[in-house]
This record gives sequence, C-alpha cells and structure tokens, in this order.
Amino acid sequence: RQIEQPAGLDHFQRLVHHRRRVDRDLATHDPVGVRAGLIRCHAGQRARPGGNRRGPHLDRRPDQGRQGHRLFHAREGPLNMSAVIPIFDVEYEQPVPSEGNACDTRFAWARVPQEPSPDERVALKDKIRRLLKERNAVMVSHYYVHPDLQDLAEETGGIVSDSLEMARFGRDHPATTLVVSGVRFMGETSKILSPEKRVLMPDLDATCSLDLGCPIDEFSAFCDAHPDRTVVVYANTSAAVKARSDWLVTSSCALDIVSALKDKGHKVLWAPDKHLGSYIQRQTGADMVFWNGACIVHDEFKAKELAKLKAQHPDAKVLVHPESPPAVVQLADVVGSTTQLIKATQSLAADKFIVATDNGILHRMKTLSPDKVFLEAPTVGEGANCTSCNHCPWMAMNGLLNLADVLERGKNEIHVDPVIGRRAKVSIGRMLDFARQIGLPTLGIGNA
Ligand code: 13P
Ligand code: SF4
Repeated sequence: RQIEQPAGLDHFQRLVHHRRRVDRDLATHDPVGVRAGLIRCHAGQRARPGGNRRGPHLDRRPDQGRQGHRLFHAREGPLNMSAVIPIFDVEYEQPVPSEGNACDTRFAWARVPQEPSPDERVALKDKIRRLLKERNAVMVSHYYVHPDLQDLAEETGGIVSDSLEMARFGRDHPATTLVVSGVRFMGETSKILSPEKRVLMPDLDATCSLDLGCPIDEFSAFCDAHPDRTVVVYANTSAAVKARSDWLVTSSCALDIVSALKDKGHKVLWAPDKHLGSYIQRQTGADMVFWNGACIVHDEFKAKELAKLKAQHPDAKVLVHPESPPAVVQLADVVGSTTQLIKATQSLAADKFIVATDNGILHRMKTLSPDKVFLEAPTVGEGANCTSCNHCPWMAMNGLLNLADVLERGKNEIHVDPVIGRRAKVSIGRMLDFARQIGLPTLGIGNA
C-alpha cells in the first residue's frame, strides 16, 4: 500500500540522513559554518534556542537547556558541565514543506558528555547513590543508554526497560523524583502520568527523530483531513501530538492495540514511524494511513548486508526492532520491542544472535547471557550513504556526569503544559489499561 502523505506536505526529500561526527575545535571553530567533507554548520543555525518552534515541548526557559552560542565558548579543561564536546550534527529524513508551510527541523544536533576517568566514575557513582537517597529519587533508564546508567538504575531499585515499562514504573513508584535517562519523550510521558512528581533528565536536549519529524501543526492538519479515522500515535512524540491522539502505543503493544481496533471496525491514522506502521498494517491487515517519519538509527539497517551476514552465520537468530525498514524486518526470526528482543535471547534455543536495534541493548543481552554471541546487524554496505554506528546520538547524551549534576542541583526538570498533559494522559492511560488487560510484563527483563 502507498504511504499517504499529510495534506500540505506533498514532497519528501531524502536527505543524507545520518549523523556525522564533527569534532569541533572550540578555538578555531568557524561561526558561520564550513563544508569540508563533513558537514560543519554553526549549531545555532541548526537548532536555534527554543529549537523547533512548532513543538511546544521544545520551547524552554533560559535555564532549561542549550542557549544560542554558549556551548562554543566553553573552555576545555577538567570535567564540568559547560565543557560540552563533541557535538554531532544530525540529519534525518523529514517532510519538506510546500509553500508557506515552514517545517524547519531537518537538522538537529546532539552532544555527548565526556567519558569520566575510572576514578571519576567510581566517585560519580557514589555521589549518585547518595543523592538518590537524599532526594527521594529513583532512576528510570532505557536499554539504549550508557551501561553505567543501566547498572546504577538496577542496583539502586530503579528500572531498566523499554518505553512502555518506563512509563508504568515511574507512575507506580512512590519516589517523589524520577530521574529519566533516555530521550525527552520518555521524560514527558513520565511527567504526564505523574504531574505531582519532579521529573529530571540528564540532558533536556536529548530528542528523537520521530518526535522532531512530527510537528503538532502539520500533524493536526493531517488528522483534520481524516476525521473518520482513529488516531493512533507512537510514544516517540511530543506531549502535544499525544494530546491529539485517541490511542498511544509503544512497540510492545502496538500490534495488539491496532488489531483490537481493527476487530471493532476502526480505520486507523498512524503516526509517526512509517516502518512500524507498515509492519503493523502487514500483520493485521488494518485499514491505515501513515505519517512519513522514521528513526535515524533503525532506518540505517541494510537488508542485503544482513542477508549476507545471516548466510555466514546460519545458526544465528535474527532479532529486529520494528522501526527498521520492511526488507530488514522480513529477514527476522523475532520482531519486537526492546524488552521482547531481550526476552528472545533467553527463550530461543540459540547461542548466537544478530541484533538489528541500537547497540546499547547489547549490554543487557550480554549481562543476561554471558556465554552467547551477539552480532550487530550491518548499517554499511552497498547502498549505504555513510558509515553509521547503530547508536542513537540522543540516547548517548545521557551520562554519569550530567546525571549527578541534575540530581545535585535539581535542574533539567521536565515541564508539560497541564492542559496538554491532561489530554495526553487519556490516550496514554488507555494504552496502559490495555497492556494490563492483555498481561504484558510489568518489569524490564532482568530487573529484580
Ligand atoms: P522500545 O519501546 O522498544 O524500548 O523503543 C523505544 C525506542 O525509542 C526505540 O528506538
Ligand atoms: Fe528515536 Fe530512534 Fe533514538 Fe529511539 S533510537 S530515541 S526512535 S531516534
């Protein structure tokens, strides 16, 4: 089936949609941007203060994140929160607007905190353990973040899980502060479910290409053009887009929810991930129209190369996250959310796995099955635009250093407009009730 494009967005441009590392020399950085093999642009031009003005979730006060050129004036030296290098420019597939319909989020950036030395690591972990107790806080980490943040979450009574379980755990935990290591939509979902709690994130600028590629105004127009359809939205979206939806889904429960809607005779409007949407459409046969969004990480997996790797390792099982392109999904032995893929490494009778999702997940897989072999699915080969690293640049923004800093200073708090939050909570609540009814597991895999 053809992907139907939102009204007013007739043209889609395929960008060289991957991230390239730009090691910036702060002293010699050209403020107007240089093109020399790598794309080098002034980050202030790419992601202005306030970011995508169409996404209310990206508007922030001066104390809530990156401001203008400030980062480029940071001095090198001992670790501190203003020494922020390197910066990655991130390009991604994005609907190109037709006249007068400015949707200007084709570029984004990410910054990765410096890796602490072994001694600093120990000291930072101790500090975080102490501060979690003092602040009545609990860690909620995604499987893609740095292994230190996964281990600490588990060790201190928090959770490491997929996005569905992160939401549920944060809502049900008695702590008054949730420290969410992941990307912004995960922090926002926690805040929407627990408006009375303080929700902190190591870096508020950690975003997601699916969220960036689905601005609320265009999305609303798309919904208005299809009033007869039930609006089903993936969790990787802004609070405002969630508020416009009838149902929220994550990759853990999307198939079951759309299947149930189809059985009741609903026609579905799906956003924003076209690959996940088309996978669900193929599985359920539901009548669906799709927003044209993609994850810059999963979109890079290459079917041809994967088939070659599979032929070299006939004993390996192939695990694929459904944000991957259809030709990659077709080669999978198991398609599922991060938790479902980890479960498969434990339940399948195999000692070798090829994994097509962010490589942050390998930490948990290897911890649970130290004797098994895990191979990363290829993102390079014939047809590849560039060499990529199977790791989400925004997930990589979470580190021990910025986590300790937010706990200490109480900064980087997530705020969601209460009116938007109340509306978004309805569709998130529907999803959580549905997941409970069908008995989806309540803990991340491997959590005590
Ligand atoms: P999961 O819900 O499967 O953890 O996926 C979240 C995500 O962002 C995948 O890229
Ligand atoms: Fe978004 Fe992809 Fe990163 Fe997940 S891996 S947070 S879908 S950009």
